[in-house]
This record gives sequence, C-alpha cells and structure tokens, in this order.
Amino acid sequence: MTTTLSQEEIRRQADAIGPWFHNMDLGGVWTAPDHFLGDYPGVKFRGFADAIPADLTGRSVLDIGCNGGFYSIEMKKRGAERVLGIDFDEDYLTQARFAARVTGHDIEFAKLSVYDVGSLGERFDVVIFMGVLYHLRHPLLALDLIHEHVAGDLLLYQSLQRGSAAIDEVPENADFWDVEMFDRPGYPKLHFIEHSYSNDPTNWWAPNAAASAAMLRSAGFEILRHPEEEVFVCRRVEVRPVPWSGAVYPARPAPRGSAGS
Ligand SMILES: C[S@@+](CC[C@H](N)C(=O)[O-])C[C@H]1O[C@@H](n2cnc3c(N)ncnc32)[C@H](O)[C@@H]1O
Repeated sequence: MTTTLSQEEIRRQADAIGPWFHNMDLGGVWTAPDHFLGDYPGVKFRGFADAIPADLTGRSVLDIGCNGGFYSIEMKKRGAERVLGIDFDEDYLTQARFAARVTGHDIEFAKLSVYDVGSLGERFDVVIFMGVLYHLRHPLLALDLIHEHVAGDLLLYQSLQRGSAAIDEVPENADFWDVEMFDRPGYPKLHFIEHSYSNDPTNWWAPNAAASAAMLRSAGFEILRHPEEEVFVCRRVEVRPVPWSGAVYPARPAPRGSAGS
C-alpha cells in the first residue's frame, strides 16, 4: 500500500534525510532533481531495462550497494517475491527504507558490505551489482565473493568506465615478447585512481569496457548481454577459467543489528 503522507510531508522528510544520490519519484516528490547526471538512475535504467526479465514473479533479488533503493524498487515492481538491498552506508539505507515505504513496496534492507555477503548464507536468483565495483579497493575479490556466496543465476553489473568501449578478444596465452597487445585500446585495462576522481576519494578504479568483461568472465560470469557500454547482464557459471582462483575471504557472521529491514 502506498503512503498516506501529503506531498508536503514527503518533501519535508525526504529533505531531512538527504542529500540523495538516487532521483526517485516519491508520490510526486523528486528526491534529487538536480543530479549531475540528470534523472539518475532512471536515465541509466531506461537504456537497459529491456535486457533483464520483465517478470520476476517468485524470484529473489539481492541489490548490492542499493543506495536509495531505486533498483530494489524496480525489481519489486517486476514481481520479485523477495528483494534484499544491502549497503554499508546507514544514511542511504534510511533513504531506501523511506522510498520503499512511500511507494508501498515490501523490501528488506540491511547494513552489510559486499565483502561480507558470505554471511547471508543464501543465493539469489538475481544479484544487482551496479555502480559499486569502482568504489572498491579490491574489486576482483568482491566479484569472487559474489560468485562464491550469493549469485544463483543472473548478475546485473555496471561500472563507471573510462578508456575505450572496444572489447578485443583476449588470447588464451601469449608469448613473453608479445607486448604490443597491452597498448591496444580494447585490451582489458583497469585504471588505478590514487587520489580522488570527480571529487570522490572512494573512486579507486576505472575499468575500460574490456576490463569489465574480462573480470566478469574471470570471476565465473558468462556475459549474456551488453545492452549499453557500462552494463553487462551475466549468468553465473560453475567452471572458472582458472580452477584455483576464487574467493578465500571467509564468510563471517553478520554484525549485530545488521540484518532485517
Ligand atoms: C554510485 S552508488 C551506486 C548506487 C546504485 N547501485 C546505482 O547503481 O545507482 C554506490 C553505492 O555503493 C555503496 N557501497 C560502496 N562500497 C560498498 C561496500 N563495500 N559494500 C556495500 N555497499 C557499498 C555506496 O554506499 C553507494 O550507495
């Protein structure tokens, strides 16, 4: 059931828990109308919304780095039975809970880092990993942990990317003296950001499109669709290209008070 709050009251409460990164329509009140990327993430979502199942009836969804809850709500609108949004930022979780309440969606939100997904002890039909990888100092570890512990079938991935959009074939092996390929624009490249980028010191990496694709494959995700430059729709596969790779980070119990909505 949607909220009975007046627009004035929604505005007041939304402002009190801002600033928002997600621009969402909460009963006619937009949460981040001046977002520097425009109507974000709506504008992003419209570019790939058709590439994911329209009907998620009976499916479970884990939204990692859920922020204000935009994707969690969109998945619920598609009929998902259970949606769990996790984020390690309590302020964003407060926004997500408010957005879900105002829009009348039953969604669980919990404070949890992607590095601790092992503590969830369950797999989800759809895992959303949008806009988080480049904020992590250990991006491949996060992908390995998602594969190891929570991915059940589909993975929806997006990252800020810089460099070429080309995705070259990478060789199974190369000669020690074959150095030219590393300079090709479509070779997988993960640009390291030592200090800050776009005034955000948590932007640690900027992969090119080839690096996003290669890391996904390397972590055990088959790429089904690449509907726009930054977005990949993947399926978890059992076999890793390098059998001895993978997550070694242990699953630890959820911190006290972190579970539940
Ligand atoms: C750029 S926002 C992306 C939000 C949303 N997923 C989207 O695509 O619009 C990054 C989000 O990831 C969260 N985040 C960053 N590092 C995280 C971590 N280690 N574990 C869980 N969430 C994290 C941030 O708090 C923030 O909400």
